[in-house]
Amino acid sequence: MSQKIDFIDLKSQYRALKDAINSRIQKVLDHGQYIMGPEVRELEAALEAYTGAKHCITVASGTEALLISLMALDIKPGDEIITTPFTFVATAEVMVLLGAKPVFVDVEPDTGNIDVRLIEARITSKTKAIMPVSLYGQAADMDEINAIAARHGNLPVIEDAAQSFGATYKGRKSGNLSSIGCTSFFPSKPLGCYGDGGAIFTNDDAIALACRQIRVHGQSQRYVHTRVGVGGRMDTLQCAIVLAKLERFDWEIEQRLALGSRYNSLLDAAGIARIQQRPDRDSVFAQYTVLLDNREAVQAALQNAGIPTAVHYPVPLNRQPAYRHLGDPDQTPVADQLAARVMSLPMSPDLEHTAQDSIVAALRSI
Ligand SMILES: Cc1ncc(COP(=O)(O)O)c(C=O)c1O
Repeated sequence: MSQKIDFIDLKSQYRALKDAINSRIQKVLDHGQYIMGPEVRELEAALEAYTGAKHCITVASGTEALLISLMALDIKPGDEIITTPFTFVATAEVMVLLGAKPVFVDVEPDTGNIDVRLIEARITSKTKAIMPVSLYGQAADMDEINAIAARHGNLPVIEDAAQSFGATYKGRKSGNLSSIGCTSFFPSKPLGCYGDGGAIFTNDDAIALACRQIRVHGQSQRYVHTRVGVGGRMDTLQCAIVLAKLERFDWEIEQRLALGSRYNSLLDAAGIARIQQRPDRDSVFAQYTVLLDNREAVQAALQNAGIPTAVHYPVPLNRQPAYRHLGDPDQTPVADQLAARVMSLPMSPDLEHTAQDSIVAALRSI
């Protein structure tokens, strides 16, 4: 193969945005306010405008966003939170850190998102929240989940939008689809920084205030710790980098949608199974994922052809050593089937059509 294909190409993005990123970084070095500098609020305001959410609170990572949200909801030991086992570990980790119990509900075989038909049967008097994940960049069935939550005493719904920032669901932006939305600016995410970062979105003033305080050790004023918090701020430098990246984010999302549908057509024509998208929402394809019965062999052959791949995720959380005591993993057979079959292909806004063609051709020949 003539060209080298990156699994996620951050170098082309940097080349395109070099001046903007460098000058944003230089500005922070000049003013020197590395913690809670002006870029922090500037980014929050830009993301409020982007999502339509009343409040954006930037935090140290996507994991911290989830943790701080649960702390703001006063989640306590013994509380139960409904979620999916087919996700990155952070989704359930933050619950267990607070002594709460993740209740794992199975997923849909075609999207990998939580199967809303199975949620209501798992709600008990201990259920305190529902945390769906918008997997691979496509929102879960948020309206149905919000309706279930409303029927059960207005349970808060926290969308784990770490992979779906920029995606649209029925005309609304992921992150602003429920009581709270949490995203990640991990470098490889659709909107990434150059380290760790994340954000919480909400339209609820009390939750926003709680999150802002928890982010800075529970302070309501300097050295007045009104609640227990964490050191959960996002660095000014990382906020400055995300601000620079917003300059071409709309173009990047268009590219992701176009490349995603191009992958869809090429793979459908080649008869290769893939994750599906619902007609009323799009995916920003944080991961572009196919379904295979002989994954290890295909991965090895693609690697030999110079095509990197990854598996998100090989083991459902309820089969992980630290989590399997929390529930019966045999209740989520679809998560098991997907974990055995999923494989993600190279995907970035700068992916060339020629590279995409060679990836699908290599996959087809294998
Ligand atoms: C679904 C999901 N939730 C949470 C996270 C955690 O985000 P972070 O790595 O920024 O802590 C990630 C990403 O890594 C993720 O993919």
